[in-house]
Amino acid sequence: MNLAVANRIDDVRDRVAGARRAGLTVGLVPTMGALHAGHVSLIRAARRETGFVVVSIFVNPTQFGPHEDYARYPRPFEKDLEVCQAEGVDLVFAPEPRTLYPQGFRTFVEVHELQDVLCGAARPGHFRGVGTVVLKLLNIVQPDVTYFGQKDAQQARIIQQLVRDLDVPVAVRDCPIIREPDGLALSSRNQYLSADQRRQATVLFRALREARSLIEHGERDTAVVRQLLTDTIRAAPAAELDYAAVVDAETWQPLQRLHGQVLLALAVRFGQTRLIDNELIVVD
Ligand code: PAJ
Repeated sequence: MNLAVANRIDDVRDRVAGARRAGLTVGLVPTMGALHAGHVSLIRAARRETGFVVVSIFVNPTQFGPHEDYARYPRPFEKDLEVCQAEGVDLVFAPEPRTLYPQGFRTFVEVHELQDVLCGAARPGHFRGVGTVVLKLLNIVQPDVTYFGQKDAQQARIIQQLVRDLDVPVAVRDCPIIREPDGLALSSRNQYLSADQRRQATVLFRALREARSLIEHGERDTAVVRQLLTDTIRAAPAAELDYAAVVDAETWQPLQRLHGQVLLALAVRFGQTRLIDNELIVVD
């Protein structure tokens, strides 16, 4: 089937209604475009599980802080459409900002506590913007299943909570992190890195791998694990640590001793570019 592109809400609704009349289930992959293999893994999961795959491409202004990269965020729209076409996407929803945020827009969604820690503390208002736009996309498309990457673990957790708390009738799937051969998690922001920063950026993956190995060898003291993460990041001269956290994967609160589902999470700056990575570990 040929790829359709819609930028109006009623057009999306008509096309999704058509798919439903044809008996198809609907999958939604929300993105900000600049599609890479991480996004493609979500699209493929949607393709496997649902009959009509919608990809939204929208650089959402409400999730960027005033000094962040909204204006210079990459927007290679034609290339993104080629990726969607090649992956058998049925519909791309690419609205203008004024379509999702018309004059007089006043309603925002907040997921308390989960939105305030780690990336939420470093980027005030970020998850309010994410929660709001994702709820809007879910209301517009009304998919059966929606797909998120574990790469943005806090975002995925917040969306799970939002859907549960507000009774949104959708299944949320978390998909594994896709990495470059040297371990760097794919991100649309990796293209901002200089060659030297790019070489050093593998330090996030290495730190997580070493911390995992320490835990597998029996370490249960969170402070020791955090220290290893911090020391490993600090050894890369271009890296500036934003946070190295060891939290409960459900509550995102810090842990004293490691037990249950534990999330190791890192945010590291290389110049202006902020990279994140994480690893989920089940500790008995
Ligand atoms: P974006 O950064 O474009 O990411 C879209 C989806 O792709 C997210 O669910 C993200 O976790 C996933 N993703 C990105 N890199 C990945 C990787 N290396 N491996 C696996 N999945 C990866 O996240 C957003 O956009 C926005 O906040 C959005 C949810 C669209 C709301 O505006």
